Amino acid sequence: MPIKINKVILSIITTIMLASCTSSKEEVVNLYSTRHYTIDEQLHEEFTKQTGIKVNMIKSDPDALLARLEQEKATPQADVFFTADYPRLYRAKEKGLLEAVKTDTLLAQTSPKYRDKDNFWYAMSYRLRIIAIDTNWTGVRPSTYADLTNEIYKGKILVRSGGNAYNISLIASLLAKWGEEKTETFLKGLVANFARSPEGNDRKQVADIYAKKGSLAIVNSYYMGLMYTSVDPEVQNAAKSVDLIYPEDTHFNISGFAIIKNAKNKKNAIKLLEFLTSEYAQQRITAENFEYPINPNVAATDIFLNWEDSPKIDNVELDDWGTYYEKAVILMDKAGWK
Ligand SMILES: [Fe+2]
Repeated sequence: MPIKINKVILSIITTIMLASCTSSKEEVVNLYSTRHYTIDEQLHEEFTKQTGIKVNMIKSDPDALLARLEQEKATPQADVFFTADYPRLYRAKEKGLLEAVKTDTLLAQTSPKYRDKDNFWYAMSYRLRIIAIDTNWTGVRPSTYADLTNEIYKGKILVRSGGNAYNISLIASLLAKWGEEKTETFLKGLVANFARSPEGNDRKQVADIYAKKGSLAIVNSYYMGLMYTSVDPEVQNAAKSVDLIYPEDTHFNISGFAIIKNAKNKKNAIKLLEFLTSEYAQQRITAENFEYPINPNVAATDIFLNWEDSPKIDNVELDDWGTYYEKAVILMDKAGWK
């Protein structure tokens, strides 16, 4: 009898040990992400299949995640910070929240223009902020952002909130190029031409052109690809109701990632970054989410654009406008861009 009991106890102990062994051996990487695209989950699943490393992702508002990273500075809970814009990476670096990493693979898979000079962050993609215009618009079309202040567009411009990171980044880059006075004049003229108070996301602006609530919208390029290939015919129709204008000095922004200082799963985090910058992942990000690749071996494509006539992409360096983010917020607020 005692032997039987011992056997039962041993079996329970073994089961507990195996269970704890399995959980302590489980390889994970923990992400804080401000991105909101289904391609991310799909690529993470692919990464898990290839490496056995489970990807845990918490998605939230960028400022909330930055605050959380600061709170957790002593004992970081996340390994990787993913952003949909550049200034958050800039700020995280400034606040000492990031750890520089450099591997031969990461360096080979990213163009220098799309990574931090000190290797604190890497872009995963870049994106362009362009102008959509009603195909039925018969007047002069804008060819620069500054043209949007022309009074012929009075009551015609649709744009999302001034609190949105994509818009703040655009204005920060203009500030870096133009200085304060010209940017203030631009903002005043732009706001005066709004069709309505800013509302909704980028796609909503295009939908509102289709609904005849305005004639021009400022929108990130990949959303047009997503709308054009949507399963919803009405969304497709909205996309088809506009032509796209790539302004001279088209503003580019990045979506990128960085490893958190003292990350518990740094090795796994590096593997994930290497995977997401690989040719395979970059091709999928380009083909399925319509973002532009940062891997020099992957060609940029755009379903709306013959890439031979590539847009004149802004030559303002990322670091040049990262510093203008706060100033941009103040000026946009002052101009009444709600
Ligand atoms: Fe987005």
